[in-house]
Amino acid sequence: PRDIDGDLTEILIEEEQIHGRLAELCRRIEADYAGKDLLLVGVLKGAVMVMADLARELKHPIAMDWMAVSSYGSGTQSSGVVRILKDLDTDLHGRNVLIVEDIIDSGLTLSWLIANLKSRQPESVEICALLRKPDAARVDIDVKYLGFDIPNQFVVGYGLDYAEKYRNLRSVAVLAPHIYS
Ligand code: PRP
Ligand code: MN
Ligand code: MG
Repeated sequence: PRDIDGDLTEILIEEEQIHGRLAELCRRIEADYAGKDLLLVGVLKGAVMVMADLARELKHPIAMDWMAVSSYGSGTQSSGVVRILKDLDTDLHGRNVLIVEDIIDSGLTLSWLIANLKSRQPESVEICALLRKPDAARVDIDVKYLGFDIPNQFVVGYGLDYAEKYRNLRSVAVLAPHIYS
């Protein structure tokens, strides 16, 4: 296979910037949840990298669990109708839940997920997302811990895929149009 760099037009966020920003978010999370239970809920598969780095940066005895969801609908557009492919193993009753996501695009996935998790009687539900595309938003999401706002471009890396590839890129980069057109 080709070298990964040939498929990219631009590095949007370098690895060091990601780690620096995650460290800042972790200091806020530690202060906000001081003395409290905290369950990180990662959304497979995109959130794997941010979950791994966020969790290791936190000086807090957190628990981690995972959900896999899939939005119905044709093509690449989210429909807002979400199906659970893998549910949590954890009972959320009385827990402080922090949903960890790689990106908020339309916001439809998270909008559904927040409502779903809130119905399970948790103590609290908040969001941590590395990236957000304000120009792609179809629904407003209240993100307590946000890494970066980015332009509405096709980005990959650090968990984000195109056709399941590029998740292993250490930075967040813009995919070259010749790859997807
Ligand atoms: C991507 C991304 C978010 C979601 C954001 O996941 O990781 O979970 O889409 O889109 P939205 O805000 O428009 O709902 P995807 O469904 O591609 O699955 P993946 O994490 O396995 O790549
Ligand atoms: Mn995802
Ligand atoms: Mg994806």
